[in-house]
Amino acid sequence: MAEIAKILVLNGPNLNMLGVRQPEIYGSDTLADIEQRCHAHAKKYEFDIDFRQSNIEGELVTWIQEERTRCQGVIINAAAFTHTSVAILDALSLLDVPVIEVHLSNIFAREEFRHHSYVSPVAAGVICGFGWRGYTLALDALKDILDSD
Ligand code: DQA
Repeated sequence: MAEIAKILVLNGPNLNMLGVRQPEIYGSDTLADIEQRCHAHAKKYEFDIDFRQSNIEGELVTWIQEERTRCQGVIINAAAFTHTSVAILDALSLLDVPVIEVHLSNIFAREEFRHHSYVSPVAAGVICGFGWRGYTLALDALKDILDSD
């Protein structure tokens, strides 16, 4: 029987407001809807999804540290911290597991300050602009990466 891989899905500030937050940019799904889609999608891969959100940078850093040796992959939408957080970059640099960076919107088609990411240098890949599908695409990518390791 294949081992069940634990995948940590981290969401940064203001993503708890999805649904009411600029739906023309982020879509009308709530974060709970996206979590549901991840759980449904993960079933076929036997992934155990640990889906979390925080508005607090240090909490995200602590979670990354704590889960360092407990998860087999990380999907992170660090939201605004993507563009500001050396602390999250440093925490992710501790990991020996693949990290996939996700953004709902196409950050490169938006303001210039969103074009730089502190997460990208340690990410196996970046998925942006596909709305909630970015999360399930990231699960597909992780499945592929973990299977080929
Ligand atoms: C975001 C893009 C970021 O620039 C922004 O600050 C967010 C969400 C996205 O998912 O498109 O909060 O990460």
